[in-house]
Parts: sequence; C-alpha cells; structure tokens
Amino acid sequence: MAIYSLFLMTISVFGVVSSPCFRNEQSLLLQLKNNLTFNSTMSTKLVKWNQSADCCSWEGVTCNEGRVIGLDLTNESISGGLDNSSSLFSLQHLESLSLAYNDFNYSHEIPSEFDKLANLSYLNLSSACFTGQIPIAISRLTRLVTLDLSFNDLHLENPNFKVLIQNLSELMELHLDGVLISAPGNEWCRALSSSLPNLRVLSLSSCNLSGPIDSSLRNLHSLSIICLNDNYFSAPVPEFFADFKNLTSLEVFGSELNGKFPEKIFQVPTLQTLDLSYNDDLQGSLPEFPLNGSLQTMVLRGTSFSGTLPSSIGNLKILSKIDLWRCNFVGSIPDSMASLTQLKYLDISYNKFSGSIPNFSMCKNLTTVRLCNNYLS
Ligand SMILES: *[C@@H]1O[C@H](CO)[C@@H](O)[C@H](O)[C@H]1NC(C)=O
Ligand SMILES: *[C@@H]1O[C@H](CO)[C@@H](O)[C@H](O)[C@H]1NC(C)=O
Ligand SMILES: *[C@@H]1O[C@H](CO)[C@@H](O)[C@H](O)[C@H]1NC(C)=O
Ligand SMILES: *[C@@H]1O[C@H](CO)[C@@H](O)[C@H](O)[C@H]1NC(C)=O
Ligand SMILES: *[C@@H]1O[C@H](CO)[C@@H](O)[C@H](O)[C@H]1NC(C)=O
Ligand SMILES: *[C@@H]1O[C@H](CO)[C@@H](O)[C@H](O)[C@H]1NC(C)=O
Ligand SMILES: *[C@@H]1O[C@H](CO)[C@@H](O)[C@H](O)[C@H]1NC(C)=O
Ligand SMILES: *[C@@H]1O[C@H](CO)[C@@H](O)[C@H](O)[C@H]1NC(C)=O
Ligand SMILES: *[C@@H]1O[C@H](CO)[C@@H](O)[C@H](O)[C@H]1NC(C)=O
Ligand SMILES: *[C@@H]1O[C@H](CO)[C@@H](O)[C@H](O)[C@H]1NC(C)=O
Ligand SMILES: *[C@@H]1O[C@H](CO)[C@@H](O)[C@H](O)[C@H]1NC(C)=O
Ligand SMILES: *[C@@H]1O[C@H](CO)[C@@H](O)[C@H](O)[C@H]1NC(C)=O
Repeated sequence: MAIYSLFLMTISVFGVVSSPCFRNEQSLLLQLKNNLTFNSTMSTKLVKWNQSADCCSWEGVTCNEGRVIGLDLTNESISGGLDNSSSLFSLQHLESLSLAYNDFNYSHEIPSEFDKLANLSYLNLSSACFTGQIPIAISRLTRLVTLDLSFNDLHLENPNFKVLIQNLSELMELHLDGVLISAPGNEWCRALSSSLPNLRVLSLSSCNLSGPIDSSLRNLHSLSIICLNDNYFSAPVPEFFADFKNLTSLEVFGSELNGKFPEKIFQVPTLQTLDLSYNDDLQGSLPEFPLNGSLQTMVLRGTSFSGTLPSSIGNLKILSKIDLWRCNFVGSIPDSMASLTQLKYLDISYNKFSGSIPNFSMCKNLTTVRLCNNYLS
C-alpha cells in the first residue's frame, strides 16, 4: 500500500492524478460518517462516502497532498452524533469546515474539542440548530479568518463576547446573528475595535446589543458590510461611519435608532445598500447625491426622515430599490427619477408628496410602484 501510494504521488507530480488520501484520514472520515446521524434520503455527500474511492475524491472533502484540509457538510440533514469524542477533531490539518444548514435539533451544544482544529481559518456552523453557550474552545482558534455561528440558539456569558474574540486577531468576517451577546455599546464596540483590526464583515443582528454605538468602532477602517438589525440601541448612528472607505452595505433596521442620521453616509462613494427601516424615532433628510453614486438599495421605511427628494437622486444611475413608506417627506417627485432605468421597486406611499407623477416609461424593470396616501395628482 505504501509503495502504491508513493507510485500515485509520483504520478501526481506530473499532474495525472492528485495525491491519494492518507489512510488514517480516510478511516477518520468513515468513522465520522458512521457516527453522525443523518437522513440518507436527503444527504447528497456523506451518503456516498465509501471505501471504493479515495477519500480525496469524496464530495465535500478537499485535500492537500493527501491530507484533508477542507470539509463541507453543508445541508446534509445531520441531526446528531457530533460530540467531544468525534473523530472530526482528529482531522488536525483542517483549515475549512462547514456544518451549516443541518439540524442538531437544539439539543446539542458546540463540542468543546473544537480547539483541536488549531489550523482552522474558516468555520461555518450557521443555521445548524446548535444550542447553549459558545465554548471557550472557539476563542483558541487564532487562525480564524471567517467565523459564522449565526442563526442557532447560542449565547455568550462565560466566555463573554470580549473573551471570545480577544485573540481572533486575523478575523475578517464575523457573523454572530441571533447569538445573545447582551452587551452595552461601550463593551461590544471596544471588544471589536481592540481585537479585530482587519474586520471587513460585521454581522450582529438580533444579538440583544444596546447602545450607544461607541466611537472606538471608528478604528475598524476596513469595515465593508455592517449588519446590526434588530437590536436595542436607543442611540444615533455616529457620523464616523461615513469615514469607512470601503463601506458597501449598512443595515440597521428595527434597532431603536434615534437622533439625526448623518447625511454624509448617503454620499459614501462605495455604498450600495442602506436599510434603516422601522426606526420610528430616527430623523434625517436626503442630501445632494454625487454623480455616479453606487447606491442600489435605499430603504428608509417607517422612519421619521423628512424634507424633499433632491433632484440629484437622478444621479444614482444604478438605484434599483427605493422604499420611503410612512416617512415625512414633502414636495414633488423630481422628474429626474424618470431616468433611473434600473429601478425595480418604488414605494413612497404614506408621505406628503404633492404635484404630478413623473413618466416612468423609461424604467422598463419597474415591477412595484406604491404611491398611495400622498397628495399627488
Ligand atoms: C464512533 O464510531 C466508532 C466505530 O466506528 C465507535 O467505536 C465509537 O464509539 C463511536 N464514537 C461515538 C462517540 O459514538
Ligand atoms: C428523511 O427525509 C425524507 C424526505 O424528506 C423523509 O420522508 C423521511 O421521513 C426522513 N427520514 C427520517 C428518518 O427522518
Ligand atoms: C438542502 O438540500 C435540499 C435537498 O436535499 C434542497 O432541497 C434544499 O434547497 C437545500 N437547501 C439549501 C439551503 O441549500
Ligand atoms: C461509493 O463511492 C462512489 C464514488 O464516490 C460512488 O459513485 C458510489 O455511488 C458510492 N457507493 C455507494 C453505495 O454510495
Ligand atoms: C497549518 O497550516 C500551516 C500553513 O497554513 C502549515 O504549514 C501547517 O503544516 C499546518 N498544520 C497542520 C497541522 O496541518
Ligand atoms: C428533536 O427534539 C425533539 C424534542 O426536543 C424530540 O422529540 C425529537 O425526537 C428530536 N429529533 C431528533 C431527530 O433527534
Ligand atoms: C464536552 O466536554 C466538556 C468537558 O470537557 C463538557 O463540558 C461539554 O458539555 C462536552 N460537550 C459535548 C457536546 O459533549
Ligand atoms: C455559511 O454557510 C451558509 C450555507 O452555505 C452560507 O449561506 C453562508 O454564506 C456561509 N457563511 C459564510 C461567512 O461564508
Ligand atoms: C489570549 O492570549 C493571551 C496571551 O497569549 C492569553 O493569556 C489568554 O488566555 C488568551 N485568551 C483566550 C480566551 O484564550
Ligand atoms: C438583553 O440585555 C439586557 C441588558 O442589556 C438584559 O437585561 C436582558 O436580560 C437581555 N435579554 C435576554 C433575552 O438575554
Ligand atoms: C479597501 O478595499 C481595497 C480593495 O479590496 C483594499 O486594497 C484597501 O486596503 C481597503 N481599504 C481599507 C481601509 O481597508
Ligand atoms: C433590467 O434588469 C436587467 C437585469 O437585472 C438588466 O440587465 C437590464 O439592463 C435592465 N433594464 C434596463 C432598461 O435597464
């Protein structure tokens, strides 16, 4: 067998086949399959793992020189059989692991042996129905670049948020949506800004976060996607969000924002998506829009935004969705809007717009138009 392996490896140098799986890795994977509870009717990858082929060719398995470095068991209807003694934690070369979209039935905690997988840079346990406290083991995975534990039934007390991310200094993407973090603004913001200098994607929706949004966050220069929906900020959005040079998406709906929203944020040249809906006490008005803006989605639904729609909204050539339902806008609908050829969705109902309706015949993609409860003629 050893000679056979050597032979195959030699061939692989010439690009004929890739290196075969190391035998111990293959048996660890078979043991993992054997121990996991999954529905074989629904499974598309695990169900086919068998001895007849080299494990590096199995679906969901990625190898480097015969070692398993990636395991993608997304949506395999796994419902149990993952615990501290699982052979998963002997696959020490793993760099990427996804168990997203499985159903651990809210009866499994995340095993505390995860720290054995010290080389992980990508870990995705999103929507897998795990429950309980996030184990300290995750905080020891210091090579993580992407961590996604969103949409389970998890919480953070001991360790808390600060301790969890303290040493994860390589992280670029953090998704903890739905994890009960329950921290005030000075705490969660400072934890992020002191630990994760490279962060690009921050997704903390429904985390029971409170405000204020602390100025320490301004240190996270690389932030590109910020998603903080469904929290309890009772605070304004700080102006320094407009200084993030790569900001492409800002979503903070239903989070009890108040104060005046900084106009400068609308003018960030890279911004594509802005959703501030359902923040009843959030005030603001629309600024002049620069030429060639990147905005595609602007949702201010159910806020207290007021003032007029500037004619320069016509500069947003790729705007496809604008939703101003139940705000306090007045004045006429600028004719320049008729030149927004990418527009698909327009809802300006329940405002105080007056005057005539522009001719939207150039907007060939427009599928939804809601104008009711205004003073339009
Ligand atoms: C996993 O399966 C092996 C046999 O394949 C068995 O010996 C072992 O006890 C199982 N471990 C768990 C935790 O179920
Ligand atoms: C597996 O999935 C199929 C298709 O959804 C379903 O009919 C079957 O009852 C499931 N089996 C088990 C053991 O849950
Ligand atoms: C999961 O797999 C099922 C079939 O097994 C498929 O119908 C479903 O769309 C998949 N879900 C996702 C999110 O990929
Ligand atoms: C065994 O693996 C081969 C190759 O991946 C696959 O084609 C075959 O369907 C598998 N057999 C079973 C019984 O799953
Ligand atoms: C961990 O990754 C590094 C480089 O990414 C590699 O040199 C090292 O051998 C890996 N360790 C294990 C146990 O695979
Ligand atoms: C999921 O949990 C419920 C109740 O907690 C239990 O009745 C059911 O059998 C569990 N399903 C599986 C697949 O473990
Ligand atoms: C794993 O072991 C730890 C103790 O080492 C225990 O607290 C935890 O509940 C175990 N987790 C699972 C999923 O079995
Ligand atoms: C985690 O996996 C799910 C399912 O494939 C995917 O939708 C999600 O984007 C992944 N998360 C990250 C951060 O890659
Ligand atoms: C983070 O690293 C420091 C220094 O190595 C260590 O003292 C601390 O215990 C680590 N924190 C966690 C949560 O592992
Ligand atoms: C949410 O956070 C507050 C403190 O900010 C706390 O009193 C409350 O218990 C938390 N809610 C939950 C469900 O943990
Ligand atoms: C913004 O993104 C570009 C391209 O990805 C990158 O080169 C640059 O360093 C980023 N800027 C910041 C402040 O992260
Ligand atoms: C309508 O949308 C499609 C795809 O989203 C796009 O390719 C096309 O250019 C749009 N039509 C117009 C008139 O802009």
